[in-house]
Amino acid sequence: LASIEFDISNIPEGQSVTILWRGLPVFVRHRTPAEIAEAQAVPLSDLKDPATDEERTKEGHEQWLIMIANCTHLGCVPVGDSGDFDGWFCPCHGSHYDTAGRIRKGPAPSNLVLPPYEFLSDTLVQIG
Ligand code: FES
Repeated sequence: LASIEFDISNIPEGQSVTILWRGLPVFVRHRTPAEIAEAQAVPLSDLKDPATDEERTKEGHEQWLIMIANCTHLGCVPVGDSGDFDGWFCPCHGSHYDTAGRIRKGPAPSNLVLPPYEFLSDTLVQIG
């Protein structure tokens, strides 16, 4: 249906899972402190689609990055833990996303899209 609940307690730091929401793949990434610091240190002027790390995450849950897993170029699913910016790399035409899922290099026009979601508790998230 429109929304799903997902238990994130079994995703270790530094790892991601891909779940399905409305037929779309969604990345749920448990970011490391280094990934968060890297994302927060990027000046907005370096970004093609400017957004702060705070805008890409929920306050108090900054370690979680939840994004629709389709490249904003032509929809391939990017590969995690890769690319020039330590985030995701889309092998279809070479788009690189950073540790906040922001487009940094390549043909994709915009950041990986955030679905609507909220934390029901520290371990349960509702997507949609
Ligand atoms: Fe990802 Fe083209 S679909 S770079």
